Amino acid sequence: MNRICKTAFLSFMLFLASFPLRSQPASPFFPKAKLMQVGAYYYPEHWPETQWGRDLDTMKELGFEFTHVGEFAWAFMEPEEGKFDFGWLDRFLDLAGKRGIKVILCTPTPCPPAWMAAKYPRIFLWDADYKPREHGSRGNNALSDSVYLNFCDRIVSELGKRYGHDSRVWGWQLDNEPGAPEDYSPSAQENFRAWLKGKYKTVGEVNRAWGAQFWSLTYGSFEEIRIPNSRNLYGINPSAVLDFRRFTADRTGLFLNRQNDILRKTIGKDQWITTNYTSTTFSADPRRSDRLDFLSFTMYPVSGGKNLGDRGFRLGRPQGITFAASYYRPFRGLTGVMELQPGQINWAAINPQPEPGAVRMWLWHAFAGGCSFACTYRFRQPLFGSEQYHAGIVGTDGVTPSRGGMEYNQVISEMKTLRTLYHPEAAPPSGYAGRKTAILWNQENLWNLETLPETSQWSTWNHVFKSLMIAKSFGAPVDFISESDAFESYPVVLAPAYQLVDLDLVLKWMNYAANGGHLVLTCRTGQKNRNGVLWESKWAGPINPLIGAEIEGFDLLLEDGRGTVRSAGKQYAWNNWGDILNPFGATESLGVYGNDFYSGKSAVVTRKHGRGTVTYIGVDTDDGALEKDVMKRVYSDAGCSVENYPEGVFVDWRDGFWVAVNYSSADYPLELPSEAKILIGDKVLGPAGVTVWTSPR
Ligand code: GAL
Repeated sequence: MNRICKTAFLSFMLFLASFPLRSQPASPFFPKAKLMQVGAYYYPEHWPETQWGRDLDTMKELGFEFTHVGEFAWAFMEPEEGKFDFGWLDRFLDLAGKRGIKVILCTPTPCPPAWMAAKYPRIFLWDADYKPREHGSRGNNALSDSVYLNFCDRIVSELGKRYGHDSRVWGWQLDNEPGAPEDYSPSAQENFRAWLKGKYKTVGEVNRAWGAQFWSLTYGSFEEIRIPNSRNLYGINPSAVLDFRRFTADRTGLFLNRQNDILRKTIGKDQWITTNYTSTTFSADPRRSDRLDFLSFTMYPVSGGKNLGDRGFRLGRPQGITFAASYYRPFRGLTGVMELQPGQINWAAINPQPEPGAVRMWLWHAFAGGCSFACTYRFRQPLFGSEQYHAGIVGTDGVTPSRGGMEYNQVISEMKTLRTLYHPEAAPPSGYAGRKTAILWNQENLWNLETLPETSQWSTWNHVFKSLMIAKSFGAPVDFISESDAFESYPVVLAPAYQLVDLDLVLKWMNYAANGGHLVLTCRTGQKNRNGVLWESKWAGPINPLIGAEIEGFDLLLEDGRGTVRSAGKQYAWNNWGDILNPFGATESLGVYGNDFYSGKSAVVTRKHGRGTVTYIGVDTDDGALEKDVMKRVYSDAGCSVENYPEGVFVDWRDGFWVAVNYSSADYPLELPSEAKILIGDKVLGPAGVTVWTSPR
């Protein structure tokens, strides 16, 4: 090639490389006929090599189809700076491959080795007291530090080169539970300023967006800006905090996308890339890691909560799996639970044993939620380290299956039977599909609401879970979607406490309803613009025409205070938030306050818009009874038939199978159509019960 050709070729390659590496369609990786594949975490670096084969044999005998290695093994992969040792991993892969156990290989970036910490202490994040973290744990690294990031690039690239075409490697997990704590290190400060420059271009724009004239916070140059630190400051600027949270979430998103891009350049098309977010996250925003093939989640249902009834503390948090599956699956149409508790854990304030049968129920619930795989943390109970009291699939002797281990074994056998009954052409029953519900989500609302909650009674997550639980009690399939998604395929869209809006979003809501959609907004929606600044208009002005009401103000009650709302002849109690509404035009009031100086004013309104409806529920109650009755009416207006499952009972349809599980402490007699054929369990669903059946309805 002559010089000109070479230069042209290089420019062309650079041009190609400048395109972002997109994720691939995820579904071909997980054949539907396999329903849900089940695996277990294993740490070869924790055990003598002589035991690896034996452990993999036990894993195989128990039916596990894949294992998961490496996310904390950096010190073993790169024992000295720039010196790599993958011999042990090769030998482990050999043993797993011979037994037909697929391997999820992880990038080890949460655990920088001791040599790196000693030589480059700048790799650690700083906490809000400006104290650097140090070696001795995990997940302590500064995602803004270039030295750390360069080391990450290199280890990820070495792994990709070595295992990117290794058929024993099924797919990749990046890092572990991304969403590091907030970082106040010098590198974070510098990167935050650079991020602001990228977003605002001039410091005047920052001042305007943040309302920095308040308390004379105005900046004269980008160099003067520091990360807003709520530990150090009273009355912190909420708009500055919002940008810091966006920046922090972007760092995590970039970190993962960067690892993704390095791997993608070296690995084959048949290996997938994911990460394992915690089921709910705060500092990360999972949808910002948008180059990964799909997202997975981790789940520990029995972690200290009381939950439902006297057995609830052993049965687990009912909203956990249904939320995570509904939240992570719609991102790429596929998800899985990467870590699921096998028994007792070690890190909650109190760590009870799960109810016998609960582990099995969670696995079936993950299946019902559409998970393509479920993996347990972890195969062997550790003998050392900070998680000594954490159960495994086998106990401390390394060979005896725990109760949870046997429950995994049972589900794996049941799943194998179900696979023989799988029909690819099975279509969702029309009643179930017809009530498909979307919950509109933007992590930025969570950040802003939690910065200025206005009442200690407010919890954004509880508020959102309430909507989700009501939809699930109606037996609706639920997807969490984003503003950029199409709303039209959902007869009902819920946007709970959607505080930050712009006119485009309001217009999108208007069009959705005009075209026949049924939109439900709840209290606190539309109060602020995207900078977290109140509108210079009537309260929540931009949504007034949409909901057909003005919002006169809101009231808050003390912890034991209860207000009343009358609706359709019934009286309800409210206590956490109360928007006081003045409907106008043809808007109908669905509920009015029954006490205090605003008695008779509306708490809930609805109006027809085009072919659809818009409903605004202005109160947040503890028991959700009012919200549920209002939503029942919305579904009825939408022409959707709904069920009335009790709290803790979930019934979903997936790939031809109905699945019911029960997190409540009471029996629930299922009402099955006469043609239903029960495959697993009974008609009476006890606590921790699982019933699986087929039925056209
Ligand atoms: C998860 C974490 C695992 C393990 C587990 C213990 O949050 O990702 O590495 O620590 O908790 O339950």
